Amino acid sequence: MSEYALVLGASSDIAKYICLELAKKNWNLYLTGRNLKLLEELKTTLEESNIEVKIFYLDILDFTSHEKFYSNLKIKPSLVISAVGYYEDQNKARESFVESYKTVTVNYLGLMNLVNLISIDFEKKRNGKIVVISSVAGLRGRQLNYIYGSAKAGIRIYLQGLRNKLHSKNVKITTILLGPVYTKMSLGHKLMPVITLKPEIAGKKIVDASLKNKDEIYLHWIWKYIMFGIKLIPEFIFKRLPPF
Ligand SMILES: NC(=O)c1ccc[n+]([C@@H]2O[C@H](COP(=O)([O-])OP(=O)(O)OC[C@H]3O[C@@H](n4cnc5c(N)ncnc54)[C@H](OP(=O)(O)O)[C@@H]3O)[C@@H](O)[C@H]2O)c1
Repeated sequence: MSEYALVLGASSDIAKYICLELAKKNWNLYLTGRNLKLLEELKTTLEESNIEVKIFYLDILDFTSHEKFYSNLKIKPSLVISAVGYYEDQNKARESFVESYKTVTVNYLGLMNLVNLISIDFEKKRNGKIVVISSVAGLRGRQLNYIYGSAKAGIRIYLQGLRNKLHSKNVKITTILLGPVYTKMSLGHKLMPVITLKPEIAGKKIVDASLKNKDEIYLHWIWKYIMFGIKLIPEFIFKRLPPF
C-alpha cells in the first residue's frame, strides 16, 4: 500500500502506538508535532517496517501555518488521526487567559481550523478518513476539568456536524471518546487501573476503529456504562457532588 496517513500530535504517548500499528499495516506516515527530537526517534523505529516516514513541525496554535503545511504535502493523506491535546491544570486555566486560551485552542479551535482545510480536500476527492481523539471529559462538565472538557465537547459536536455534512461524499469521520490512559498527560493523576487503558492498547484500538469507519466509539467498553450513569444524574444532584 502506498497511501499516507497523517498523524497530528505524533509525539503523544498514544500516537506512538497508533504509528506502530499503522506501520505494521504498511501505511506510509507523515508525523507532525513540535518535539522534533522525539519525532526523529519515532521515525527511526518506524522505518524498520520499510515504510516512508516524513516529519513536519506543526504548532496547532499557529493558525497561519496550517494552510501552507497542508498544501505542501505532495502526496495527500487518505487517513488523518489527531492525538493533539493539551491538559495541564484546571485552576491555572481558570485564572489565566493565556492558559485557558491554550487549552481551548489546542483541543478545539486550532484543530478545527486544520480539520476544516483537510476536510475540504477530502470532500473534493470524495475519499478520506478523519479521526480525532476527544474525551469522556467532554460528555458532562465536572469541576475538575470543565475547561478542557468544554473544548473536547466542542470538537465532538463539530465532528458530528462534519460527519453529517460529508456522509454522502464518502468521507468518514471518527470521534474517539477516550477515558483515562497512562500517558504523560495523566501523570500525577489518581487513575483506577480497571478503567484506565495502557497506551499500546489505546493505540491499537484507535487504528482498528479508524479502519472500521466507526462514527463515535468509547475505547474502553466500561466508559460507555459509566457515562450512561453519569449523564442520568439530575443536575440538582450533580452540582452537589464532590470532585471526582
Ligand atoms: N491520557 C489520558 O488520560 C487521556 C484521556 C482522554 C483523552 N486524551 C486525549 O488523547 C490524546 C493524546 O493524549 P496523550 O494522553 O497521548 O497525551 P500526550 O502524550 O501529552 O500528547 C499530547 C499531544 O498533543 C500535542 N500538542 C500539544 N500542544 C500542541 C500544539 N500547540 N501544537 C501541536 N501539538 C500539540 C503534543 O505535542 P508536543 O510534543 O509538541 O507537545 C502531543 O503530541 C489527546 O487528545 C488527549 O486530550 C487523553
